[in-house]
Amino acid sequence: MNLSSPLILGIETSCDETGIGLVRVQAPQAPGGLPTGQVLAEALHSQIALHADYGGVVPELASRDHVSRILPLTRQVLSEAAVTPQEIDVIAYTQGPGLAGALLVGASVAEGLASALSKPLLGVHHLEGHLLSPLIEGQGGVADEPPFPFLALLVSGGHTQIMRVDAIGRYALLGETIDDAAGEAFDKSAQLLGLGYPGGPAISQAALSGNPKRFDLPRPLLKRPTLDFSFAGLKTAVLTQTQKLSANTDASVKSGSPFSEQDTADMAASVQAAIVEVLAAKCERAMMETGIRKLVVAGGVGANRELRARLQMLSNRLGAQISFPPPRLCTDNGVMIAWAAGLKILAGEPTRSAGSFSVAPRWPLASEA
Ligand code: KG4
Ligand code: ZN
Repeated sequence: MNLSSPLILGIETSCDETGIGLVRVQAPQAPGGLPTGQVLAEALHSQIALHADYGGVVPELASRDHVSRILPLTRQVLSEAAVTPQEIDVIAYTQGPGLAGALLVGASVAEGLASALSKPLLGVHHLEGHLLSPLIEGQGGVADEPPFPFLALLVSGGHTQIMRVDAIGRYALLGETIDDAAGEAFDKSAQLLGLGYPGGPAISQAALSGNPKRFDLPRPLLKRPTLDFSFAGLKTAVLTQTQKLSANTDASVKSGSPFSEQDTADMAASVQAAIVEVLAAKCERAMMETGIRKLVVAGGVGANRELRARLQMLSNRLGAQISFPPPRLCTDNGVMIAWAAGLKILAGEPTRSAGSFSVAPRWPLASEA
């Protein structure tokens, strides 16, 4: 293996996206610096259309689709980068958490490739992929300077956490949701509004023409002295409001939704405002409590424009440095898995040889702070 600048193939199949990324990471120029590197090629297939009729991800369909996409996407990435399979130094894959069947597809393809090519493997934690994605070189993140320690707001479909990142592999959990994740709150609210799946992009689109103040939705734990979140009450409040709306609705409804276009937009804007306000307030609290003025945002909800704008305003006010991966690297992808593997390998994490493997559908990332 090329130890100082390994070429890494990353495979992501934890949920409903088949993501392949090929990156080269390079050891830091100066001691204490961050590795640099380059994204050579990437490919992604999203299963949104496959699951849309069901209102959420159907695990068995997800696994089958990963099976049919994974090798063509891998070939595409290698050909775009003009790299032969033999030139790959390490094969990285998402080991967990995620859907067991979907994870097994990525893990077994990684294992098969590693075995056929006699290459080492590294199983990566999906959330670590998200967490380190703002460090991907050349993507407008914090890759230009040594960022440790920094705070990370990790907001995906299944997780809402604030972490302190002290080094690659050293993560302290400062707060997390005690019930639903922020992404889940977007998804469930969208479902109640008849906006389809995935809910986040649909809500933020509908919210563009809505009034965020029309519906007074709860902001759970907003004022409490904790970095924990709770979003389950929000879903219940949206349900109550939508029931009232459908009782009042008249014939001017748009097709596919039981509510008028304006009601839907106002509700979407109100939901988004409630979620964004809570996320921003907890980030502010985390910065005040830790004194750390560096914040990175990762995970699918990090693609939300309103959240980005709100956190940007917050960091301007506090003189903090904030960074987001570009929206395409906020949602699931193979590049973040390859990059996280590269950072870990350069930080001394051992790879393993092909032989036996397992996946970890449930797998905590951080220790409690
Ligand atoms: O990180 P991710 O792609 O997958 C998981 O690991 O869960 O996150 C998916 C979540 C979904 O809940 C989706 O609704 C949400 O991210 N999401 C958004 C946006 N784009 C994706 N939420 C709000 N605004 C968006 N623009
Ligand atoms: Zn994810």
